[in-house]
Amino acid sequence: MKGLHVMTESTTTTAPARISEGSGSTPLLEVRNLVKHFPVRSTGVVRRVVGQVQAVDDISFTVQRGSSLGLVGESGCGKSTTGRLVTRLLDPTSGEVRFEGNDIASLRPKQMLPFRREIQIIFQDPYSSLNPRHTVGSIIGTPLQVHNIVPKNKVLSRVQELLEVVGLNPEHYNRYPGEFSGGQRQRIGIARALAVRPKLIVADEPVSALDVSIQAQVMNLLESLQKEFGISFLFIAHDLAVVRHFCPEVAVMYLGKIVEVADRESLYTQPHHPYTQALLSAVPDVRQAQVGGRRERIRLFGDVPSPIDPPSGCRFRTRCWKAQDICATQEPPLQALANGHRVACHFAAPPTIEDARASQAAAAEAVTLESEGAVADA
Ligand SMILES: Nc1ncnc2c1ncn2[C@@H]1O[C@H](COP(=O)(O)OP(=O)(O)O)[C@@H](O)[C@H]1O
Ligand SMILES: [Mg+2]
Repeated sequence: MKGLHVMTESTTTTAPARISEGSGSTPLLEVRNLVKHFPVRSTGVVRRVVGQVQAVDDISFTVQRGSSLGLVGESGCGKSTTGRLVTRLLDPTSGEVRFEGNDIASLRPKQMLPFRREIQIIFQDPYSSLNPRHTVGSIIGTPLQVHNIVPKNKVLSRVQELLEVVGLNPEHYNRYPGEFSGGQRQRIGIARALAVRPKLIVADEPVSALDVSIQAQVMNLLESLQKEFGISFLFIAHDLAVVRHFCPEVAVMYLGKIVEVADRESLYTQPHHPYTQALLSAVPDVRQAQVGGRRERIRLFGDVPSPIDPPSGCRFRTRCWKAQDICATQEPPLQALANGHRVACHFAAPPTIEDARASQAAAAEAVTLESEGAVADA
């Protein structure tokens, strides 16, 4: 891609020494028990707190260096809140956000500054996310200056290079966002995120506000940038089709909780959580890919319950066709299955063939050990 060399040049400044890079095995991003509750206040003069929106409720996940995680779920399940917590546009109620081993969840604004450069966000709405009164040159150039990435006299040429990288005309740096289409504005947002050469980009439904015809172009751009620069993404989407080609690992969210996490192959071919099964059944090519068209569309009935007063036990139970008494009284923990697949359901789908083989092998081994023990005891 033309102009990509700009991103690999050496810079005038190096990453601030305060960021500990951790060891090679430290994940790029590790979120642990992250919680965000928004207070609900009464109307009137006193505005007492009358409840809490449990937008994100005790979620944990990991993004490995150079890899990407998809975060998928219906509207209102807490995806954007998660993205804003990771980028510290919001302060968490509790929990940890570890970036290269450093917990950034409670850093003060000044301490956060070096991390702001490393973690960028691309917003869902390319209309409201760009200041209409600033030129494209200033929108992309400001982070270059704030983070002291290039000398002042080089800012313009770097902005032009970045415009070229994202497929825009470099001569248009003097124009205002209003002069661009939705797809072009999203490219400006991408250039702004790229400008500081982040290690992690939170992409919050970056194509869902765009025309279908433009979506593929922007996805292709993101994919080539990811490959070219080895940037990791936390890629937020409301359906599983979008993240399928982009993310080797996918987490599914429902009403503030992660209900299933797995690598792509495992999740798309063997979804264990009923909610994931329902989401997947809405993806046409996955449906058709099933042998003999066995997988039919599962329709979820009823509305998503309110996150102010979520159902007891399993939050999905009010819409789940497998729900039993235990689902109302006990919250299912996120449990590990074979090959890193994790699911939070008391009645997850039957184990895969690999699971069965593994448990048979384990059982056989246990029998052998037992009989050896018996011989030794004798
Ligand atoms: N600033 C806020 N104040 C109060 N409630 C909020 C705020 N931001 C989000 N919420 C609520 O938190 C829940 C999750 O929202 P959000 O993270 O935007 O979901 P998603 O991105 O998955 O659609 C929703 O019920 C939403 O109304
Ligand atoms: Mg959102």
